[in-house]
Amino acid sequence: MRALCLLFAISASLCAQPGPRARQPIDPAAAARGKKTYLQYCINCHGSLAQGTEQGPDLVRSVVVLRDKLGSALGPALQKLPNHKTDLTQAQIVDLSHFLRDRVEYTAMNRHASRPPNVLTGNAAAGKEYFSAKCNECHSPTGDLAGIAGKFQPDELQQRLLFPRRKPIAVTVRALGAPPVSGTLERIDDFTVSLRDAGGEFHSWKRVAGVEVEIKDPLSRHHELLDEFTDADIHNLVAYLETLK
Ligand code: HEC
Ligand code: HEC
Repeated sequence: MRALCLLFAISASLCAQPGPRARQPIDPAAAARGKKTYLQYCINCHGSLAQGTEQGPDLVRSVVVLRDKLGSALGPALQKLPNHKTDLTQAQIVDLSHFLRDRVEYTAMNRHASRPPNVLTGNAAAGKEYFSAKCNECHSPTGDLAGIAGKFQPDELQQRLLFPRRKPIAVTVRALGAPPVSGTLERIDDFTVSLRDAGGEFHSWKRVAGVEVEIKDPLSRHHELLDEFTDADIHNLVAYLETLK
């Protein structure tokens, strides 16, 4: 049984022992719901990998997250942290906890040299078909993605496909009675929005009635794709991208 637990340490919630050091088994359905909450409320600052941006720290290495069990640390932290949502339900916090735990284990697993992610199990022809249907509008195998397989190892290629690097987000704010102001999004939450215009000047608004915010995130489609991909789609796409030497 112990050997089995070691072998299947990644997926075997069955083997979790009680006690303070027992790992929190990940419920995949809860993690999927938590991902949605994360995409809506946390990704802007903590990033698509939950590994931080200029606006917020790395949550994968956060002690709060590492100590958390089913929201035990995360819930109280969200109440205390400045500018954080305080009105998430307990169920949403538990789901977020599953999602963040999943990110922590995923990151640990992929750092582990003896456990390379097996990303080349897909079918390149199926990946090519998927690419033509869903990716062609923005990418081209002979244009921006030409030679991409030569630039990255397969596991990094998969990371980049799932979590492309952050790009500046274009935003326009229309406040009643003032000309619209456009620029690069600095920060947005339920209460304020701020941007830096082309001249480098910083602007900030309270999000009250009459203040309209229009956002164009070049990666918004990629955030949606995270919800659409099946594991097979991802493996097929990576196998296809691997042919673009
Ligand atoms: C507007 C940007 C922003 C958003 C949105 C945001 N955070 Fe944060 N978060 C921060 C910043 C900045 C800190 C560091 C604050 C501090 O230490 O005082 C932080 C800290 C944290 C910490 C503590 C990390 C540690 O180890 O100290 C946790 C946990 C956390 N955030 C979770 C979340 C979750 C979950 C969400 C979504 C529900 C979220 N945050 C949304 C900016 C943000
Ligand atoms: C609506 C436009 C859009 C669609 C659709 C789209 N992407 Fe992207 N993708 C982007 C943008 C923007 C970037 C960031 C580009 C950059 O890093 O220069 C990106 C980045 C990437 C990267 C990382 C490239 C690098 O050099 O790091 C990969 C790989 C990728 N996309 C693959 C795909 C695949 C496969 C699909 C279809 C399943 C897809 N994308 C669909 C817009 C799109």
